[in-house]
Amino acid sequence: MEKMKDSKGKKVTLCLMFCVSTAVIGSLQFGYNIGVINAPDVKVQNFFRNVTLVRTGEPMDDYTVTTLWSVAVAIFNFGGMIGSLNVGALVNKLGGRKSMLLSNILALIGGGLMGLSSICSSYELLIVGRLVIGVFCGLSTGLTPMYVGEIAPTALRGAFGTLHQLGVVIGILVAQILGLESLLGSQTLWPLLLALTALPAVIQSIMLIFCLESPRYLLISLNKEDEARQALTSLRGHSDVEDDIREMKDEAMKMSMEKRVSIPELFRNPAYRQPIIIAIILQLSQQLSGINAVMYYSTEIFRNAGITEPVFATIGMGVVNTVFTVVSLFLVERAGRRTLHLIGLTGMTFCVLLVTISLKLVDSEIEKAKLLQNGTAIIDSASPSEGISTVKVLAILAVFGFVASFEMGPGPIPWFIVAELFAQGPRPAAMAVAGCCNWTASFLVGLLFPILSKKIGAYVFIIFLILLVVFIVFTYFRVPETKGRTFEDIASGFSNAADSNTANYKSAEGAVSLPISPSSEKFQM
Ligand code: GLC
Repeated sequence: MEKMKDSKGKKVTLCLMFCVSTAVIGSLQFGYNIGVINAPDVKVQNFFRNVTLVRTGEPMDDYTVTTLWSVAVAIFNFGGMIGSLNVGALVNKLGGRKSMLLSNILALIGGGLMGLSSICSSYELLIVGRLVIGVFCGLSTGLTPMYVGEIAPTALRGAFGTLHQLGVVIGILVAQILGLESLLGSQTLWPLLLALTALPAVIQSIMLIFCLESPRYLLISLNKEDEARQALTSLRGHSDVEDDIREMKDEAMKMSMEKRVSIPELFRNPAYRQPIIIAIILQLSQQLSGINAVMYYSTEIFRNAGITEPVFATIGMGVVNTVFTVVSLFLVERAGRRTLHLIGLTGMTFCVLLVTISLKLVDSEIEKAKLLQNGTAIIDSASPSEGISTVKVLAILAVFGFVASFEMGPGPIPWFIVAELFAQGPRPAAMAVAGCCNWTASFLVGLLFPILSKKIGAYVFIIFLILLVVFIVFTYFRVPETKGRTFEDIASGFSNAADSNTANYKSAEGAVSLPISPSSEKFQM
């Protein structure tokens, strides 16, 4: 069938691997900076106290320390919002490769500022450094998936797109391991732990010099057909690239008939409205699933569950996170994006329920143990310590299951599906909007989760449960399958639907009418 003709184009050349590996160093950076802040928390807070002691002769009070610490954590997400909003403008001007190169300057500045904060006795440097590194990561979360999506062969776009998330989870894991007290998480070495983000920036910059610009950018945005053909030939490993060139030319022709797509235009034009809503909700489904409540506060959650070495449970979680991203990588081109997203969200819903139940059980077991100590409880068959160890295992399994389900779909898919839902023209603006929604949601979860969990305890997870159910319903009814389809085909599916003002797609042969709510596999053939 027409749209599956690309499925034979599954060849992975060395050149393609090199370009993709270079780009996902940006994803690694994002993950590293998410994970790095957990381990040295107490040491950094002591640093805040000492700086004030040296400056004023009195240590900083606990309230100010906590506030300043929250600012240092949250400002990263704020920077991410700024960075992600600027992805479109940067890519339109410079293209993906040069944009990645330029953004690395921010990683060097951010890493440098954080690394120097201790020597300069300035917590201001640390906070500004976190902001700058946040802007850099905001750019990376748009630039990497977009570049990878553009250079990947259609039949492998999902698998390659998942490499972005694999980079993120490996980054988180590396940060969790390096953050151990015996490695770089010590009283003296934590500034180095934070500054280390500058190293991949240098490596990526060198590698980027040898990378190719995206052929889509060369042909569609710059109208440089020969250069695009050359780049495609190197990426695909053969000179028979006419199909790709024809598809890009069709897209370029359609684009030349439209004016440049701005962010407001995405919401005004009916052809873009449907995909931008899907893109935004998918980003929200990633963040409002509660993943970062677990990522940022896992050590605390494990501690609350009565685990004595919570840091190792956190590292175990990082390993599960990585393994399941690899599983998704192999499944995404077979099962499809929509199916995996639904499976992931459903798994998370069950696991978040288990997390709530296990945390509540720990509470009541601890309560029971206290009462027993006071000699006031009625003794039942199982002793409290047995009860506690059973629920501890339940809590760990529930958190691991939650993270594993996340990586099956809600982790990787929202990042790369946005690039798939839009053609070259609106893609940069769409990536900017989607990225900014993701970062804003992550900012809100980071800010509100600790407050809510103090107020309502384990029941805070019920909020995520309700939201997860909403996202399952939305995905089931509104998200189309994009597996194996060209960008052009996906985009025209939305325009056809908008034109006819009905929620029907035309099949490739024009014979079958299919619903936008996506249930049919025929739709992709
Ligand atoms: C995704 C999310 C990020 C989260 C990570 C966990 O990349 O965007 O916020 O921390 O997955 O693996």
